[in-house]
Amino acid sequence: MKKIAVVGCTGAVGLTMLELLENTDYAVECMASARSAGQTLKVGSRSYLISEFSVEACAACDIVFLCVSGKFALQYGRQLSESSFVIDNSSAFRYEPDVPLLVPPVNGAAYQGEKLIANPNCSSAIALMVLGPLHLAYELDSLIVSTYQAASGAGKPAMLELVENTKHFSDYGESNSSSNFPYNLAFNVIPQVDQFESNGYTKEEMKVVWEVRKVLACPDLPISTTAVRVPTLRSHAESLTIKFKQPVNSLSAVRALLQRSPGVEVIDRPDEKRYPMPMTSTYKHAVEVGRIRHNLIYGDCGLDMFISGDQLLRGASLNAFEIMQLVSA
Ligand SMILES: NC(=O)c1ccc[n+]([C@@H]2O[C@H](COP(=O)([O-])OP(=O)(O)OC[C@H]3O[C@@H](n4cnc5c(N)ncnc54)[C@H](OP(=O)(O)O)[C@@H]3O)[C@@H](O)[C@H]2O)c1
Repeated sequence: MKKIAVVGCTGAVGLTMLELLENTDYAVECMASARSAGQTLKVGSRSYLISEFSVEACAACDIVFLCVSGKFALQYGRQLSESSFVIDNSSAFRYEPDVPLLVPPVNGAAYQGEKLIANPNCSSAIALMVLGPLHLAYELDSLIVSTYQAASGAGKPAMLELVENTKHFSDYGESNSSSNFPYNLAFNVIPQVDQFESNGYTKEEMKVVWEVRKVLACPDLPISTTAVRVPTLRSHAESLTIKFKQPVNSLSAVRALLQRSPGVEVIDRPDEKRYPMPMTSTYKHAVEVGRIRHNLIYGDCGLDMFISGDQLLRGASLNAFEIMQLVSA
């Protein structure tokens, strides 16, 4: 039986990780900061006593899931990987050449036994489930991504803040402050996720550029992203505008290709008002894809589509879980 550590077990990603582990026979150690140590955490039918993070306790585990900040991961990630497989959810190691960045259904075959593995950013991971099979079939030439990101992408406290601010909202012009976002998110949309870089893009937007290129092994692929925070609780949505090198002659062939791709569900019946939405993709393992159409600018070589995926599950914990299955195989 494998022993697993979930570090950051009380957070949004850590809790979703524990939900995935609930029906497995792994022994699970729950770790967090001194603030939570000693408390009992109930997840489904299992109860855990939270212990304070320690390098020694992690070293006794086969696999360590880091569901903590990038700063924390930078401090401990490499050291922990001397004794255990470490799967890191933060951005700390994603761009290091010696650390694989894995979306198992897309580039799992590239894994070569490394002990420190990075899990991609949630927006990148969700998009890659759809971009991976399309790239294999038609070869990407360029990509424009616009994201509609849920509050929980900023962690559990951000989700709770949105719920509270929504309950107490009465009119615009009143309190517009937030502890978790640049402004109040209730009844608002905010075109800033993470900090701005010197090129005018945010770090979140550049993560999509860097990570899609790394996972697809296309270091020069032209990509532009706009990342927007919207007042949904869970599940990101994204609009993808894709130009391919090969012409795409049949939309039914695209739908069939995506429908048989692992972790993808085609919901594309606009005539029946059926398309991807956070309302339907939340808690789902698959990424929903729909609104598939030829793009009016790129003609036969271009597609537009809309996707939605539970970023805590498909965009974080489930991908990490699939990385664990890959390293343990
Ligand atoms: N939220 C998402 O959609 C998402 C998606 C993909 C990746 N990520 C990444 O995943 C990581 C976790 O994100 P999150 O959203 O789950 O954050 P979160 O909800 O804020 O949770 C943070 C966790 O870190 C723990 N922690 C803080 N300081 C610690 C310390 N000194 N020692 C041990 N544990 C400590 C906290 O424990 P206490 O309760 O004790 O404070 C809590 O369990 C981040 O790097 C984030 O960028 C998040």
